Amino acid sequence: MQAIRERLSGLPEPKVGIILGTGLGGLADAMQVHAAVPYADIPEFPRSTVQSHAGRFLFGTLGGVPVVMQQGRNHLYEGYGPDDVCMGVRCMAQLGMQTLIVTNAAGCLNPQWDAGDLMVITDHINFTGRTPLSGENHEVWGPRFPDMSRAYDPQLVRTALEQADALGIRLERGVYVGVCGPQMETPAETRMFKRLGADAVGMSTVMEVIAARHMGIRVLGFSCLTNKNLPDCMEDAPIETVIAMANRSGGNLARLIESVTARLG
Ligand code: HPA
Repeated sequence: MQAIRERLSGLPEPKVGIILGTGLGGLADAMQVHAAVPYADIPEFPRSTVQSHAGRFLFGTLGGVPVVMQQGRNHLYEGYGPDDVCMGVRCMAQLGMQTLIVTNAAGCLNPQWDAGDLMVITDHINFTGRTPLSGENHEVWGPRFPDMSRAYDPQLVRTALEQADALGIRLERGVYVGVCGPQMETPAETRMFKRLGADAVGMSTVMEVIAARHMGIRVLGFSCLTNKNLPDCMEDAPIETVIAMANRSGGNLARLIESVTARLG
């Protein structure tokens, strides 16, 4: 933490933290950046091994509000444990973050939607079998048994839907199921996730949201639905396609997040 604080002297405390998922680098361009801190400069911070993830914190303002962006995240499939995956969220919380906006690329399980659609996350299913809260509880962070009944803040979901409407951006709402990956789902798994009530499936987000809620941080989440993941018409979803589709809808998501953030000041 000291390594980060030294670089931030004189800058306002970030109110909002944003985790940029695959293909969402465009949001960083909309930000007025005042400082960048590569993860490599932070002792013990896990390095991202994923090509499309830059691996640094950006500090500055978005929509006039002081923000911190995590450009590049770590995933369970890289071999990192839940605590490593959540280190960014916990750092941002210690720096003053009150609201976390989390974004990801995800497969679309809802037959009524298409690849390229955007979804605001209303709830999640943690299908990873992991949690960042196992072991001794750090009381200063939060309670032993944190409530998850409103993990994704209903008021923020409403704000996102209103702003999407005002900007003319189509925004679906649905449930995200988080898996470990890195392998994509079989048709049987996809059928199961649909029956469990999920609308999107991805390999990130749930650990970070659990850690954030444990610390009492308000959460808003968005998925860029990059590929249709339906049992009877599975598409191949090579990573190139996932990145290209996320880049395509990333522009709209960037506009939407900027507009929501401006209302969090
Ligand atoms: N499954 C899991 N993770 C993903 C997918 C998918 O279909 N698309 C993008 N991330």
